[in-house]
Amino acid sequence: MQPLDPPMRRAIAERVRYYNELGIYDFYRRDSQISESDAVVSGSSINPETYTQTLAPDSDTMPVKKSATAPRTPEASILEVLSPRTEQQASDPVEALTLIREDLGDCTRCKLHKQGRKQIVFGVGNPHAELMFVGEGPGADEDAQGEPFVGRAGQLLNNMIKAMGIRREDVYIANVVKCRPPGNRTPERDECDTCSPFLMRQIVVIRPTVIVALGAVAAKNLLAINAPMAELRGRFYDFMPSGARSSDPSWQGAKLAVTYHPAYLLRDPRQKGEAWKDLQMVMKYLGLKPPQKTE
Ligand code: URA
Repeated sequence: MQPLDPPMRRAIAERVRYYNELGIYDFYRRDSQISESDAVVSGSSINPETYTQTLAPDSDTMPVKKSATAPRTPEASILEVLSPRTEQQASDPVEALTLIREDLGDCTRCKLHKQGRKQIVFGVGNPHAELMFVGEGPGADEDAQGEPFVGRAGQLLNNMIKAMGIRREDVYIANVVKCRPPGNRTPERDECDTCSPFLMRQIVVIRPTVIVALGAVAAKNLLAINAPMAELRGRFYDFMPSGARSSDPSWQGAKLAVTYHPAYLLRDPRQKGEAWKDLQMVMKYLGLKPPQKTE
């Protein structure tokens, strides 16, 4: 048995990550003569040739380098991407979300971890929610409190939720990135790409009927469409997160609507009427009625 050398580990990890992003999580090991070329990564036996062939059956097979001298150091990242998603074993969404949170750990996967974040802001709300809101990333208040949308934009989001006739505790709220970008800048592409698989996993567990993307960053990351807000709003999209099992008869994906980010509405309150139209579309779909006014 020989350990994988670091370049090969990285190559396999990258390849598996790429397939994960396409929604493929289950890899099988083809029966083959495994002896010399067997490799060990922190106790897991992985044959790089077999994996390469399984992942890419007919193209760009990676050369298998063998290195007898490669150190047997544990490499968390490769184990992480090669292990099946733990939440699939969970008996309920509460446990599944806990497992995803544990998997996220004290995340250092992107540069945001060293740019002043105080804590990871995972998500909050009802794990069985019919309605899920997705924002961009935590701001200063969220970073301090560890909960999404608790600052001024959060107050406005709370009012929007209330106007829909429901409570904040009824919905689930999360962000595309889970760490505060410094100075509240827009999260960068690589940060979104690194973090959004965790959001996708949250969505798969919660199985909302409707997702509301708050603002262009959420919309573009969820839909992988690069279009202005004016074009993105005003309609439902069929949304199936990468990683969901399309064969699952009990959840056929969510309807996704795009609306203005509450922080934008604070800057330009004239757009609140437009946002309300978006929410009314969602309410109609979910059969929600605005609360009765009491005199
Ligand atoms: N803005 C966001 O996009 N998310 C938050 O959690 C707070 C503000």
